[in-house]
Parts: sequence; structure tokens; C-alpha cells
Amino acid sequence: MDVFKEAKKLLEQNRRTTDGHQYTVPSEDGYPYQWLWDSCFHAIILAQFDPEAAREELRSALSRQFPNGLVPHIIYWKPGILHLFDWGVEGTSSLTQPPMLAYAAWEVHRRDPSNAFLEAAYPSLLAYYRFLVEKRDPRDHHLIGIINPDESGEDDSPRFDAPLSAAPDISFAEHLALRTKLVENNTACRFDAELCMRNYFWVKDVPFNAILVENLRALGHIASFLKHSDGEHFANLHAELIANAMRERLFAEGVYWSASGIDYTRLQVATWAQFAPLFAGLYTEEEAATLVRTRLLDPNSFYAPFGIRTVSKKEPAYQASGYPEGFSWRGPVWMAPHWFIYRGLLRYGYKAEAADICRKSVALLERSGFRECFNPETGEGQGANGFTWCALVLDMNEA
Ligand code: GLC
Repeated sequence: MDVFKEAKKLLEQNRRTTDGHQYTVPSEDGYPYQWLWDSCFHAIILAQFDPEAAREELRSALSRQFPNGLVPHIIYWKPGILHLFDWGVEGTSSLTQPPMLAYAAWEVHRRDPSNAFLEAAYPSLLAYYRFLVEKRDPRDHHLIGIINPDESGEDDSPRFDAPLSAAPDISFAEHLALRTKLVENNTACRFDAELCMRNYFWVKDVPFNAILVENLRALGHIASFLKHSDGEHFANLHAELIANAMRERLFAEGVYWSASGIDYTRLQVATWAQFAPLFAGLYTEEEAATLVRTRLLDPNSFYAPFGIRTVSKKEPAYQASGYPEGFSWRGPVWMAPHWFIYRGLLRYGYKAEAADICRKSVALLERSGFRECFNPETGEGQGANGFTWCALVLDMNEA
């Protein structure tokens, strides 16, 4: 199988148009709607060979922005069965997802410059990042909170077990029940993070904040290019404030840890989140060297025969085989973390290690197809089929 050809084909197969909005579903069978960070990945890939489709993908992702600036993590487009997070605005969720929008928009522009596209997207982008910085940081500590694990994009990651009171061996159904309960609380709170939700679930997550830093920098580039000096100042200032706050409150024992609640309780579960700050250049060269040598490349923690585990093998929650019912972020390999780690490694000059991740990603797709996630020990595919963001391998060819 030529995975690169297959990847392009899948992006086309999973493309939909509703009411004049064009977008790509994450998977025909499992996820027949539009998801926010998936669409950002789709746009990053499409930018290489179909930039107009990439722009359409981002335009539709931004088209249901809330008046307060939030960009919802799901747009249902067509009525269906999966309305787990419906509230407030007709036909969308009321949560968001890792804020990859500015990075994706800048990447699309970098590959195929279009001032008109950037100008049109800019006010929405600025409003979204302002929402995160202003509404998700009520104490002005410059760390952005998520109100539900799904906002991290890693719905059942064991990083969130402590705040959810979940056991390491929790079942798929039990976990879903906990998250459904949280959505009930979210709804009762009318999704007000500042005053209400932080009593239930309030996590300063490492990947979310690291991704935000890098995206604020991208927003800074966009604002500078468009000569919006206020926006440029806002973006660059907050990128720096968040990076500094992460260092001050989330960094310990050589790595970044997510934290919960107003007292910043450390969520000391070793997950791939430790590598996410490489993407934003938040480790020093020395720290990165130790991180790569002692954690990323350690076969007993993250380095598996078929890729990088999302959870260290040493964790009691580690579960290679996932769940028979669907996806799992409790150990299996996922293509999005592979891509973030790949980009992070390149940023620090680890070319051979980045190439290794690319090779393993391609090998997984050849062996098991475009699956949602994969068993790190056997390479077996898990969860949804025809999973679009696996096409991120097309953007892992620089090492
Ligand atoms: C699952 C993943 C999430 C993704 C969604 C759609 O919920 O955990 O990250 O956005 O599927 O692909």
C-alpha cells in the first residue's frame, strides 16, 4: 500500500459539504461531524496540495464561533446521534479543543499566501485567543484552564484520573459515565468557567498551554503580517506570559506536569504531555537532551516497538490493548501526538529521532490501515476506521 496516496484519497473521501460549508469528517463511521483540532490538522495537511480546501476547512471550523469568542469543538452540521455536548448554540458543542487554529491558518498562508483569507479569518482568531486568555484564566496567573478532559483532545487520558476520581483500571463505560456527569455539571453551570466549572474540573493542562503558546506566536505573525499592531502585541505578550507561568508553576523534576484546581495540585502521571512543550520550544537544550534520552527513548517508559506510547509503560493505568468498545488515550499510539513530538524533535535538531517516528508512523499505517489509534506493542489498530488525521504522515517528511 502506498500510504501517501491513501492519505490523500482518504482526505477526499471524508470531505463533506453542508449548507455551503466544506469540511472533513474525522472518520466516516465513528465521527461523522466536524471536530476542531482534527480540522486544524486536516488544513495543515491539505495546505500542501489543495490550499483552497485547507482554507475552506478553517473557514467552516470558525463559522460557528460563539459571541464570547469560543470556537466549539464539534459542529454537528447534520442532526445525528452523538449530541453529547450540545448546549447553547444550535448544533455545536460548548467545549473547545487544543487551540491549533492560528498555527494552521499561518501554515496554510505560508504554503499558499492569501491576504484575503488571513484578513477574513483574523478577527475570529483574535476573538478566540482573547476568549481563552481572558475567560479561562480568572486569577490572571497566565495558565489557561480546561473544564472537561475532552477539551484536551485526550478524552480519557489518565492525567485526568485524579480530578475525575477515576481508578487506573477504569472501564470504557465507567469513564464515559464520569464524563457524561461532568457534562451535566457543565450544562448546569451554563459552561461558565470563571464562576462555576472550576468547582468541578479545572485543569491547567500541559499540551493545551504549550500548544497555545506556539499558536499565540503564530497569531503574532499573522497580526504582524496584516499590520495589526495591537493584536501582535497581545499575542506575543501572552505567549511569553504563559510560557513563563508554565515554567514557574508546572515544571518540576526536569519535566512539565499538568495541574488541577486553584492550588495547582500536580497531576503526576507520566504521559506524552511531557514531550508537548518541545513543540513550543519550552525546554532548554540541556533539558530536552535529558528528556529525549531518559524518557522518550526509554523502552520501559515511552519508546515502544510501534511508536511512542501516550502513557508510560510504568504507569499503573498503562493499557496497550485499549478498549474493545473504542479509542483509548491510556497507552495506545496516536498520530497527532506523533506529529507534535516529530515537530518538537526537529525544532531541537533531533533529526534521526524524528525520522524514526516518521518511519514507525508509516509502518503502522501500512500494517494496520488508517485507524484511530494503535497498540504500541503489537501495532494492531484500534477504534475508528478511515481516521483522517493519520494523513499527518504527509507532514512528517522533513527529517
Ligand atoms: C476522539 C479524540 C479527539 C478527536 C475526536 C474526533 O474523541 O479523543 O481528540 O478530536 O475523537 O476525531
